[in-house]
Amino acid sequence: MKDFKDLTVGICNDHAGVEVKNFIVKKLEEKGVTISNFGTDTTDSCDYPDFAHPMALAVEEGKCDMGIAICGTGNGISMTCNKHQGIRAALSWEVEIARLAREHNNANVVGIPARFISIEKAWEIVEAFLSTDFEGGRHEARVAKIPVK
Ligand code: RB5
Repeated sequence: MKDFKDLTVGICNDHAGVEVKNFIVKKLEEKGVTISNFGTDTTDSCDYPDFAHPMALAVEEGKCDMGIAICGTGNGISMTCNKHQGIRAALSWEVEIARLAREHNNANVVGIPARFISIEKAWEIVEAFLSTDFEGGRHEARVAKIPVK
């Protein structure tokens, strides 16, 4: 597995994603990854766009290499990230989906559905996402067509 300790990773979450976020942050810290926490740290009900936009901006501006976006379904927070032209957020509930999102789509944010997968599975997905490179080649032109000009 590719070493990703030199990455700066942004993470954002709403109230549904706090527990998963804390677990992922702990695991990333153990690996020596630099983390920027844009999420809420309480389980008080909140609105995921308030946390997704600042993280998406940081990834777009290159302040973070990659992003992790966590909410109950992973949908709202991924949808919000994807409103940013420079973001390709991939909602991932299986390791293989996350891996292919990197290899084929050059995704730069992984969306995690906290209420539908185990904490351990969430970590496996993040690990696969961060350690997989974009394949380029035939996928290059396709990814270049994603943004609305
Ligand atoms: C919060 O209850 C929930 O709606 C949110 O975490 C997310 O699933 C939205 O897409």
